[in-house]
Amino acid sequence: MSSIWGNNLKISLFGQSHQRQMGITIDGFLCGMKLDFDYIDAFIARRTPNPLFNATSRAEKDNYEIISGVSDGFTNGSPITVIFQNKAYSNDDCTVARPSHADYTAFVKYKGFADICGGGHLSGRLTAPLTFAGALCAQALYEKHKIRIISHVKSILDICDRSFANYDNPLSLYERLFTSYPFIDDIADRVQALTNRLSAEKDSCGGVVECCVVGLPVGVGSPRFDGLDARLGGFLFSLPAVKGVEFGRGFDFANMTGKAAVDEFVVRDGKVSLSSNNCGGVNGGISNGMPLLFNVCFKPTPTIAAPVRGLNLADMTTAVIERKSPSDVCIALRACPIVEAAAAIVLLDEIA
Ligand SMILES: Cc1cc2nc3c(=O)[nH]c(=O)nc-3n(C[C@H](O)[C@H](O)[C@H](O)COP(=O)(O)O)c2cc1C
Repeated sequence: MSSIWGNNLKISLFGQSHQRQMGITIDGFLCGMKLDFDYIDAFIARRTPNPLFNATSRAEKDNYEIISGVSDGFTNGSPITVIFQNKAYSNDDCTVARPSHADYTAFVKYKGFADICGGGHLSGRLTAPLTFAGALCAQALYEKHKIRIISHVKSILDICDRSFANYDNPLSLYERLFTSYPFIDDIADRVQALTNRLSAEKDSCGGVVECCVVGLPVGVGSPRFDGLDARLGGFLFSLPAVKGVEFGRGFDFANMTGKAAVDEFVVRDGKVSLSSNNCGGVNGGISNGMPLLFNVCFKPTPTIAAPVRGLNLADMTTAVIERKSPSDVCIALRACPIVEAAAAIVLLDEIA
């Protein structure tokens, strides 16, 4: 099982959803950085479901404890290990695999020994410690390199938010988006009506998070297998429920002509820039100086309250599951800090 990632920076994610604790170790992080706990806690808090859109019974406030790598509030160069407590979890049956979840695949892969309760090690719950690591990396990226990462929910089912592509300076949205309200436009009422309806119908839905990295210099990344888009894409696909990643115009390119798609060079006062950002800030795996712009698609929450056919792992027969405890209606609604964390970890690993 590979839950260790990184070159210059190494992260190691451990634990399971229904264990008492889980956490992350970050090795190779810069020393001497004073942790900004107001920022880190605000970053992580955005992962907690906003009650406006989701009356989930699993909403846990994320209490964590740093057990190594920080002295008197400063990173000390040793591996940083942080432990998160898991307090609230459902008593749902762990012997019946939920469809579209990872219970069956983990059960087979680990010869029946996998802890699949609540998704075990593959649960979305493990994005809590990942988000802590991302917050640390995001603080370092801003303080050392003036690189800022922002994101919002670009769409949820058929409701769309405005795109960062409409803004000359997406950073002007930073204050608005660094909250538990993950939209640019005033669409909260419509989103709330949608999530209430889906909850009542015992259903869930998918959504897209759009992320933008501002301040990235030209030249970050490498060609081919270690391309910035290849590595970041790979990391994003490791997030539970992510089923699509596209950079810049992504799949839209299939319907575009070369004339419409090309990002022409512009030189002003000796400074090289591009006339548009269709490629999303990366060419040949290397950043081109434009904002890094990408979309991440989260599938509908697989565990729904409506009756669905699961798999009884004791005798491999199908069994109807009717969940009492509700899951998130839409994972994308709480995924912005997780996507930003992924970007921050990958970029700091590239730059460190
Ligand atoms: C923040 C977050 C929360 C999640 N919450 C749930 C949940 O409450 N119920 C559920 O069935 N899946 C949830 N998921 C998705 C599952 O973890 C995911 O679908 C499962 O591990 C299988 O992985 P895959 O969808 O990438 O194949 C969540 C994912 C994330 C990122």
